[in-house]
Amino acid sequence: MVRPWRMGQGHPSISSLLFFSLVMVGPVGRVAGRARLLAGVRSWQNRHVTYNFSSGPAALPAELVNRIQEELPDWHGTGMPVMTLSHRGPDFVALMEQDIMQGGGMGQFAAVPLNLTLPGDEVATVVTGRWGLTAAEEAERLGLTVRRVADQAADRYTSVPAEGSWTVPTSARYLYYVPNETIGGVEFPYQPVSPVPLVADASSQILSQPMDLAAHGVVFAGTQKNLGVAGAVVVIVERELLGRARPGCPSILDYTRGAKAGSMLNTPTTFAVYVLDLMLDWVAGQGGVEAMRTRSLERAGLVYSLIDASGFYANPVDPSARSTKNIPFTLADPALDPVFLAESEQAGLAFLGGHRSVGGMRASLYNAMPLAGAQALVDFMRDFERRHG
Ligand SMILES: Cc1ncc(COP(=O)(O)O)c(C=O)c1O
Repeated sequence: MVRPWRMGQGHPSISSLLFFSLVMVGPVGRVAGRARLLAGVRSWQNRHVTYNFSSGPAALPAELVNRIQEELPDWHGTGMPVMTLSHRGPDFVALMEQDIMQGGGMGQFAAVPLNLTLPGDEVATVVTGRWGLTAAEEAERLGLTVRRVADQAADRYTSVPAEGSWTVPTSARYLYYVPNETIGGVEFPYQPVSPVPLVADASSQILSQPMDLAAHGVVFAGTQKNLGVAGAVVVIVERELLGRARPGCPSILDYTRGAKAGSMLNTPTTFAVYVLDLMLDWVAGQGGVEAMRTRSLERAGLVYSLIDASGFYANPVDPSARSTKNIPFTLADPALDPVFLAESEQAGLAFLGGHRSVGGMRASLYNAMPLAGAQALVDFMRDFERRHG
């Protein structure tokens, strides 16, 4: 039996928030290195962090943090923390019925090919950044011919190809794209159409704006940005695409097996599921995805306006493809980068360093970032330019 995404009493699902109902499954969790985590805690413990601009794990809404703190010792009268409940017990199963998922994001780079292709098949991709490249490489490792029907390498991944400027061979098993490239800060301003199933890595875009799920065969998104905390990935699969996993596909990556098992082939990342449930409620309570889009535009508009008005800061992305979630920027003098980072941390603006592969700065502004956070960043940037520009 394939279990559809089921909405719990009064609880929204991602599909309902995006207005369509498909099937959701998800594999594999990932565990961060304990030593690295502890090092991070040590370096931050004495600072007063006001706003978190990390690309993920990302900020949670303040009211959610308070709620988690309140209900941690006693989840819904069970007398126990939610992540210590049996995932087979009725209390937790009820939660999973509202939010069917588990797993980790990068696993989908393998899961998509394993579920939709056979070795030797051809797939198509539009590459607009690092995550699309990594996914293409993984597909190649799994024996696929990856046809890059558009690749923005010549622009150093600072643009999106013009709508309709590429052709997808109908022999391709799917067309893959990343609606929002988190590292480069490049976002599709339009919805690609495809003659073959469309696969979207919506990790840094999901629930920040409406998305036409019906146009897609597969949509996946890690939970550590707009959906709560790290450790899980939400996967939305068109029902018709189930039952096609290649022989030898590991069970934990098999969409059909996962769906049949209610996303509980193994022990789910229970805390991530719990926070996802809270996040979906929160988004719905804030006015839903349309409200998220309005706020996203407002936040990003503040930062881009400052950058564009300044000769000191620059954003390398083609204005028509600028991300409203991740804004990379450089300073006129890169020697000032460490000073900017140190001073911004002191000012309570955390994690503004760019991805290690590109350097510079990056401000990630997901749903949990209040407008006041973007304003605080802009105020700081203006002041920094005045003092150092
Ligand atoms: C667009 C995108 N895809 C995939 C990933 C990888 O996700 P994970 O770290 O959960 O494997 C990321 C991580 O930031 C991302 O931004």
